[in-house]
Amino acid sequence: MQQKTTLISTSQFHKDVYKGLTDFPKHLSSKYFYDEIGDKLFQEIMDMPEYYLTNCEYKILDKFKDEICRAFFKDSKEFDLIELGAGDGKKTKILLRQLATEEVPFQYVPIDISENALNQLEESISNELPSVKVKSLQGTYFETLEQLCTMQRKRKVIMFLGSNIGNLLHPQAVEFLMSIQELMNDDDLFFIGFDQKKDPQTILNAYNDTAGITERFNKNLLARINRELDANFDLDKFLHWEVYDPETGTAKSYLVSKENQTIHVNGLDLTVTFNAWETIHTEISQKYDDNVVSWLADKAGMEISRIFSDENKFYKNYILKK
Ligand code: AVI
Repeated sequence: MQQKTTLISTSQFHKDVYKGLTDFPKHLSSKYFYDEIGDKLFQEIMDMPEYYLTNCEYKILDKFKDEICRAFFKDSKEFDLIELGAGDGKKTKILLRQLATEEVPFQYVPIDISENALNQLEESISNELPSVKVKSLQGTYFETLEQLCTMQRKRKVIMFLGSNIGNLLHPQAVEFLMSIQELMNDDDLFFIGFDQKKDPQTILNAYNDTAGITERFNKNLLARINRELDANFDLDKFLHWEVYDPETGTAKSYLVSKENQTIHVNGLDLTVTFNAWETIHTEISQKYDDNVVSWLADKAGMEISRIFSDENKFYKNYILKK
């Protein structure tokens, strides 16, 4: 992903921060990482050597572009290639270029909450791939997708790259997949990336880089609360901490208070106390294997049609159908 600047309503942010900091144990949602600063930090993360996900998916798309595009265009019907979360389009352009070269009749429909991300993407596609028709749609994934489906009945290939599904717990992931499935017709496809279980150390390194970019990304949550809710978190008094459970495949990020401390969140009229070594849980990044993906797809009324993997089996892209 991708530019994920979220325009989630301010009051929802207020409510979620209040709830998260007054619950036990404390938690804050990773969806709030992505303000302007968080978007830039995530861009830096995607360029880090330790964050293998982006490069693996890029290699898969590049190696299998021919087969993937043939699967997308299987019955020669014109289709919409809909992407959830537009991002900078670096990976998607591999497929767009292939489809354009093969003169496949399709339209690219990126959906993103950020108007700015969409404008930049449209401009770069019109410069680099002028023959590709682009119709970008600004809004939240499902509302926009629903509107699109009621407006027309063209064949759809929906894409969700970057293992973004991994930021959801399994029940939410099933709900997400089910909502996609309900908007799909029998000949539509869902093309999705799932990061795979692997050597736990490789996963820990990806989420705890030596340059400290992920630490800044995680702590940006506190910085954002300072900026937007007039709070006084001292970022140096928190540790970025990553754990990975190889049994469940769940990587979890925490912010850990290094000492007893009291924080004032003036914008919420809230005082929060932390004991030394108390945690705030901020993110999950789920890792998968074929069995788990198949189980999730099945729960959501879909099945795996094709699997594409990099040579180390670090990362896989799946074509799901109804
Ligand atoms: C956006 N998402 C898939 C990333 C991930 O891998 O969970 C966000 C991220 N968090 C830390 N590094 C990257």
